[in-house]
Amino acid sequence: MLRKKLIAGNWKMNKTPADGAALVAELVTAAGKQTDVDVVVCPPFTALDAVGKALDGSTIKLGAQNLHHEASGAFTGEVSAPMLRALFATHVIIGHSERRSLFGETDAFINQKVLAALKNQLKPILCVGETLAEREAGTTLKVVQTQLEAGLQGVSKEQAATLIVAYEPVWAIGTGKVATTDQAQEVHAYVRGLLTKLFTEPVAQRVRILYGGSMKPANAPELLTQKDIDGGLIGGASLEARSFLELIRAAAAAK
Ligand code: PGA
Repeated sequence: MLRKKLIAGNWKMNKTPADGAALVAELVTAAGKQTDVDVVVCPPFTALDAVGKALDGSTIKLGAQNLHHEASGAFTGEVSAPMLRALFATHVIIGHSERRSLFGETDAFINQKVLAALKNQLKPILCVGETLAEREAGTTLKVVQTQLEAGLQGVSKEQAATLIVAYEPVWAIGTGKVATTDQAQEVHAYVRGLLTKLFTEPVAQRVRILYGGSMKPANAPELLTQKDIDGGLIGGASLEARSFLELIRAAAAAK
């Protein structure tokens, strides 16, 4: 298969280092050797070190939830790509809707982060998605296009091959309202079409496009068997080993 499924856990502002290490210890025991699905956990910055150590020797990868685009300097409260690399992070979530709406991140700022991540060999998980008002106004595809094209400005074809995109309809995040499989597949196929235009067909066929927004063991099997849905970015259901492991199994079964 061209694209291996990827299940990424976005812990958001949850878990101390000890709680995070305990959770991944369970994940490592149950799924730390499997290679059918790529698995990434994204703890808060403060738990990266402890979680990274608990993941050592397993196939589960470490990701951060944000970064600053500069390598170092007077940016109080920020964390850079080289700092994340020093903790053995391999992935980083960029442009999550909570960063956009609660912390004022613009497409231009997000673009700088994507470029910084790629320059430092971190795989960006670039999040795009429309609000409820935008969906109701019929502008979903336009919004996604703007976010994707602006977020990926200056990214080369070679760099794009390591990119991961997450389509997360904002109205489905943490609300229990999941997009229907048709709604999700439509946007995923559209994103793949945009990637084809930006980077050529062979590159677009390699980029994983994750769905995010209330993905749970109950709805995952149907979503994950859609042609252009290559995995999930999981919030709530990544905070417990049992539900996260079920999602990994669902991805493994969704060939
Ligand atoms: P959720 O969050 O699974 O809790 O809806 C997804 C996300 O925000 O990445």
